[in-house]
Amino acid sequence: MTDSQPLEHRQGSEPGRHNLDPHIDRYAARTAGMTASEIRALFAVASRPEVVSLAGGMPNLAALPLESLSGQMAELIAEEGLVALQYGSAHGVPALREQICEVMAMEGISGHPDDIVVTVGSQMGLDMVTRLFCDPGDVVLAEGPSYVGALGSFAAYEAQVVHVEMDDDGLVPDTLRAAIDATRREGKRIKFLYTIPNFHNPAGVTLAVERRAEILEICASNDILVVEDNPYGLLGFDGQTYPALRSMDPDNVVYLGSFSKTFASGLRVGWVLAPHAVREKLVLAAESATLCPPTLNQLVVSRYLSTHDWKGQIKTFRENYRERRDAMLSSLEQHLPAGCTWTQPDGGFYVWVTVPEGVDTKAMLPRAVTARVAYASGTGFYADGFGSRQMRLSYCYPTPERIREGVRRLAGVLESEMELVRTFGSVTTRAVSGPQFPGPDTA
Ligand SMILES: Cc1ncc(COP(=O)(O)O)c(C=O)c1O
Repeated sequence: MTDSQPLEHRQGSEPGRHNLDPHIDRYAARTAGMTASEIRALFAVASRPEVVSLAGGMPNLAALPLESLSGQMAELIAEEGLVALQYGSAHGVPALREQICEVMAMEGISGHPDDIVVTVGSQMGLDMVTRLFCDPGDVVLAEGPSYVGALGSFAAYEAQVVHVEMDDDGLVPDTLRAAIDATRREGKRIKFLYTIPNFHNPAGVTLAVERRAEILEICASNDILVVEDNPYGLLGFDGQTYPALRSMDPDNVVYLGSFSKTFASGLRVGWVLAPHAVREKLVLAAESATLCPPTLNQLVVSRYLSTHDWKGQIKTFRENYRERRDAMLSSLEQHLPAGCTWTQPDGGFYVWVTVPEGVDTKAMLPRAVTARVAYASGTGFYADGFGSRQMRLSYCYPTPERIREGVRRLAGVLESEMELVRTFGSVTTRAVSGPQFPGPDTA
């Protein structure tokens, strides 16, 4: 045996099993559900400047008033540095929790600051809620498709995801009923419904207001908790907001909020508004995860909310995203081959595209990247390998010109792919089952 042999051979038995990781036999069983996105490697290429990336979900921060923010941060350190740089409570800074109540009031929620737990982004909220409620094998109902980071959390706690169909008006109540009945007939325990009612990631649709009470009633009557994830709710392109599920049934909805899309994602400040009875367990879960969320970042957000025209800033973000959405939709209309369909978002970051039968968006991705355009293929947004005819296109980050160019390139790739399918039949990959962990650039 020499050093030049591959590691898997040096470890002896079962070539390939150790897959270059000498710790493979040490991991906890639950890590089996933790797999990196197969397309992560491609993103190294996709982030090169010559590639138009319609894949990432990064907010466009160019409109932030950096000069005045840097002044505010300097003042914060000068005036409150010894607090800002110190540990805080796991519950979060009290003044910020009060301000969060004002933010949520814009979507009809009347929460109490005591029932808010500040988190390190709403991703941490998802992790904590899953940790609190799910034992291995428990079922989480989630829209199909769903947010890839949520699917990652569910997998990490070995919860099983049952997808519920959506249409252009979001979650379909009858299919929710059917999913509950079918899951229970299999003897499985449903813990909660995870839903993104507004400007869905990745589907770009919004749950119709008329459906909201019905969805809540179905969950309450079946003793199923609702986890409402709402990072995009204030990004409606006409300034419209919708009544939060939490505002309609405070005792049965855990609400997740975030400043990532309405202020600055890098600060990693989000929150959970829980039913009062759940709050204490959440604080304990938060404490064991991080001791406390970063005090400095919470105070930055708090100062920003009290000294800056944050509603005006959200309006500016909305206008930027609206211009980009328009560029995306008009170029899809202009360039995409017949047989492709897509959703019409009226807020948020994403369009969900369905391509003609036979085209596999995951198999096509390397060819798209070669043609200098990237997207997120649909399979990553399902826990069950579905989604090979879908892709998510994000319009949040690139300029309108780049979006138009990206869609033009994508259309060329799709045309050739459809030609291949016509000539040779379907170009498919092995269905990937199980969620994949996103990188921050693909969330
Ligand atoms: C639906 C949804 N939930 C949660 C998150 C995580 O956001 P945060 O930055 O607050 O952790 C994202 C981020 O893209 C998202 O789209």
